[in-house]
Amino acid sequence: MKGLITAGGRGTRLRPITHTKNKHLIPVAGKPIIVYAIETLKEAGIIDIGITYNADLDTLQSFLKNGEDFGVNLVYIHQKEPIGLADCIRVSKDFLKDDSFVFFLGDNLLAGGILKYKKIFEEKKPQSLLLLSKVQDPQRFGVPEFDKAGKIVKIEEKPESPKSDFAITGIYFYDSTIFKAFEGKNHIVPSERGELEISDVHQYLIDHGYTVLGENITGWWKDTGKPNDLLFANRLILEKHTEYSISESAFIDDLSSISGNISVGDNSKIINSIIRGPVYIGNNTIIENSYIGPFTSIGNNNSLVLSEIEHSLLLDNISIFNIQQRIDESIIGDNVIISKKESKPAVYNLYLGDHSIIKI
Ligand code: DAU
Repeated sequence: MKGLITAGGRGTRLRPITHTKNKHLIPVAGKPIIVYAIETLKEAGIIDIGITYNADLDTLQSFLKNGEDFGVNLVYIHQKEPIGLADCIRVSKDFLKDDSFVFFLGDNLLAGGILKYKKIFEEKKPQSLLLLSKVQDPQRFGVPEFDKAGKIVKIEEKPESPKSDFAITGIYFYDSTIFKAFEGKNHIVPSERGELEISDVHQYLIDHGYTVLGENITGWWKDTGKPNDLLFANRLILEKHTEYSISESAFIDDLSSISGNISVGDNSKIINSIIRGPVYIGNNTIIENSYIGPFTSIGNNNSLVLSEIEHSLLLDNISIFNIQQRIDESIIGDNVIISKKESKPAVYNLYLGDHSIIKI
């Protein structure tokens, strides 16, 4: 079985971070989101993986290279424009050939892995197996409709009136029948929003008598497409993956108090501060006279002085100085400076890029 992971799209819901960064490369607990997808496939024994992209090939390749670091073989596949998830599959035909494959959206995170579902797919041999998750807001997703026997009979993309409480997650198994949806009679066409919808592919398979099964996911699944979801994913990853680990070259002074699972990277310093895990702190980061509360990921080359932060995601090269009001549920991108204004008049000075959000 092969794997196909998406790394394209527009990332509009995560602006301004995505003005300068491909959302799949946003690091959560020290690892770009897409790496969790690659690891999930590797765990299930899937090592031949295609990565579809629109732009950013150089950046993606500089992080992921040929996949060797993760024990997989990566092939990069260009999708000219982000015109739909089904198009990602369509343009990957030369790579996928006649093999069955798992299609994994690169911004999705799944706690329990996919091995169990891969086995079900291989045993039952449907044309497609969709992983489902019960959600509070099905309007945001592809939503299945079931008949009385629990069989999927219809699939709608982001319906106003969902026919069930289930989302079709961004993890799908297919055999090569899927390519009929692009070529055969009645092949799918772009939707009203101009995209080749993955939900239309599923409907095509159902309408043409093929077997599309749904399997309910146990454990958590997250689509990290929106800021709150990204923060929630940060929390779940920190809870699941952070172990107590302090680099040999890190320094924690006697005045500091640390508790819970905390990971501190190379050459980072913690001085007169309180850290309550789970917390991830990258390399070359200084925390001084500060409080860092649970569910906080802090990247590399940051400085946090006389400040408090909790349940947040900080990327790299950030300086936060003398902010006494606790920063909570925040995402802060690269090269940001936040500091108290020391001189009069006591006003806010803001130099903000497009789509920034400040709540004071
Ligand atoms: O997360 C699950 C949902 O993902 C499903 O329930 C929906 O049926 C499915 O359409 C999809 O909805 P989203 O609105 O979340 O998809 P989004 O546009 O965010 O794209 C998901 C991933 O695919 C993300 O990694 C970006 C990438 N992408 C997207 C498009 C449209 C591409 O690489 N190329 C594209 O053309």
